[in-house]
Amino acid sequence: MMQWIFALALLPLVAQGYIFKEDESFLQLPHYTSQEQLEDLFARLEKAYPEQARVHSIGRSLEGRNLLALQISRNARQRPLLTPPVKYIANMHGDETVGRQLLVYLAQYLLGNFERSLEIGQLVNTTDIFLMPTMNPDGYALSQEGNCESLPNYVGRGNAAGVDLNRDFPDRLEQQHVNQLRAQSRQPETAALAEWIVSKPFVLSANFHGGAVVASYPYDNSLAHNDCCEESLTPDDRVFKQLAHTYSDNHPIMRRGNNCNDSFAGGITNGANWYELSGGMQDFNYAFSNCFELTIELSCCKFPAASSLPSEWARNKRPLLELLKQAHIGIKGLVHDASGYPIPDATIIVSGLEDKPIRTSKRGEYWRLLTPGIYSVYAAAFGYQSSPMQQLHVTNENAEALRVDFKLTPVESNFDGISSYYNPYFFRH
Ligand SMILES: *[C@@H]1O[C@H](CO)[C@@H](O)[C@H](O)[C@H]1NC(C)=O
Ligand SMILES: *[C@@H]1O[C@H](CO)[C@@H](O)[C@H](O)[C@H]1NC(C)=O
Ligand SMILES: [Zn+2]
Repeated sequence: MMQWIFALALLPLVAQGYIFKEDESFLQLPHYTSQEQLEDLFARLEKAYPEQARVHSIGRSLEGRNLLALQISRNARQRPLLTPPVKYIANMHGDETVGRQLLVYLAQYLLGNFERSLEIGQLVNTTDIFLMPTMNPDGYALSQEGNCESLPNYVGRGNAAGVDLNRDFPDRLEQQHVNQLRAQSRQPETAALAEWIVSKPFVLSANFHGGAVVASYPYDNSLAHNDCCEESLTPDDRVFKQLAHTYSDNHPIMRRGNNCNDSFAGGITNGANWYELSGGMQDFNYAFSNCFELTIELSCCKFPAASSLPSEWARNKRPLLELLKQAHIGIKGLVHDASGYPIPDATIIVSGLEDKPIRTSKRGEYWRLLTPGIYSVYAAAFGYQSSPMQQLHVTNENAEALRVDFKLTPVESNFDGISSYYNPYFFRH
């Protein structure tokens, strides 16, 4: 009886997120989680949190290892409508390992604390989070703890075939016959990720690397194909700079901009302005899907001793959480017909950003990341009249996207034409 009264008295405090100290017990005895331990850990988390956690295998590496992602969300079985999917991916270069372990920590942190902390509870309630600690487990298996630089011949950086996975994606500037040729030798890790990226309505993503400390944003290549030092900007440069700053400004070392003998104003850089590369994953995300991806370099040393992991967690915890919240900037909503049926594959077009239409999901949802400002927006879909233009004032206050739905009416039956909108960029299998 006494315990009950005591517990009841504590309820308001618990509800406000005050009572419990955060659980970071995963930092004890720091070590890198092996592939076997990862399979084990994710299975245990799914069992302990059946509603909030779900293990996915996105595919398999060349040597058959599972490419695992843990989904963390209010309802990991059935994503609640308009909950934005976000992904964090690490260890694409097998010998760049800090991000790998940070995502293992982040999974345990989110699940261990969503009932203890108001902030984490809200984040998990409103966001569909996918964490993939390694997209190159074969490369990791060849890498050695304590090696700050890559091994000779970049063993461990590439996959088991020695291919650099961050040069292996379809490229927006490549001619179709080159792309087809390259598709024949595409690595299984790349193919699995590309398929995943275009088949889920991801909104925001980060890809964690090492060997520098900086937040880099698209594009990574340009038509000029200079080796470096010329910016190649997307139409969404303002959003990308805000996303990159969100990580860097919250990171006590990255924000200084002078690390590992590099110099980056504010700790951020346009990819091509640093060095050009083709076939990278961040450009693929932006050019072939709705997803906005950053490439985040976490440490000068690629594979530091495990003893440095707790301090890496301390530096990166705030940036990791704040970047997840950025999935809620801008506008979101549903596109539907007069009977309320969702319209998939409709486009949301923002004046001044016409080159980057956002497409609705199968359930008619869209999320359009935007920085604060006044925007004119309309929706269009094949077989429907475009909606009237709407003027919107985006403030991004309260970390919640502005809700704007669009109702479309079918084009008249005497209309003989092909409709309104077709985006040849978009990539479907
Ligand atoms: C999250 O959602 C659950 C279920 O709807 C609710 O009980 C809980 O209070 C929410 N937590 C926060 C922090 O909003
Ligand atoms: C930075 O450059 C100096 C001089 O070239 C070199 O001695 C040092 O090892 C470099 N540091 C890093 C982290 O690369
Ligand atoms: Zn890398």
